[in-house]
Amino acid sequence: MSNGAAHASELVAAAAERRWAWIVGAIIAVIVVMMVVTGLHWASMPPSRVETIDAKTLHLRGEFVESNLGTTLAPDGKVTARLVAQQYSFVPQCIVVPEGMPVTFRATATDVIHGFVVGTTNANTMVIPGFVATFTTTFPKSGEHLMPCHEYCGTGHEAMWARVQVLPRDEFLARARSGERLSCVAR
Ligand code: CUA
Repeated sequence: MSNGAAHASELVAAAAERRWAWIVGAIIAVIVVMMVVTGLHWASMPPSRVETIDAKTLHLRGEFVESNLGTTLAPDGKVTARLVAQQYSFVPQCIVVPEGMPVTFRATATDVIHGFVVGTTNANTMVIPGFVATFTTTFPKSGEHLMPCHEYCGTGHEAMWARVQVLPRDEFLARARSGERLSCVAR
């Protein structure tokens, strides 16, 4: 190979390396921008699909009025547990769910950011005023769980908790047939 040809191929190689350096640099820049944008965006959102609600009228109308809180069994067999978090309690204080059936939780807050986790299960969410936190989970075993608030929400935070009673499926279905909102709050 002559000296001139070697020099020419060196130039081609250098040009290709520069081109790839720019391409890789651009890919990294796009990824960093995506991380920053999604990080900032999701920092102000609940960790579930985003559904908004007016926190000021929760007690007056709509899905989260007090008479609609608790657990329902829809005609198609879907179980939904609705609850509200507020300083410093959950409504209802005791939530009934069936064993071995998918349960959809729907929760919102009236005042500040709260959150809850059900015992040692994977049922865990933040509850943010203005948003509906929702997730679906299944409890494999009957029994009772503690459900503490896990976002610091003020001086009463450590006293904010509810209970979750997982009932055997038949017992839950027998109680749910009436169509009322179930809870295990003592009356
Ligand atoms: Cu509510 Cu901490």
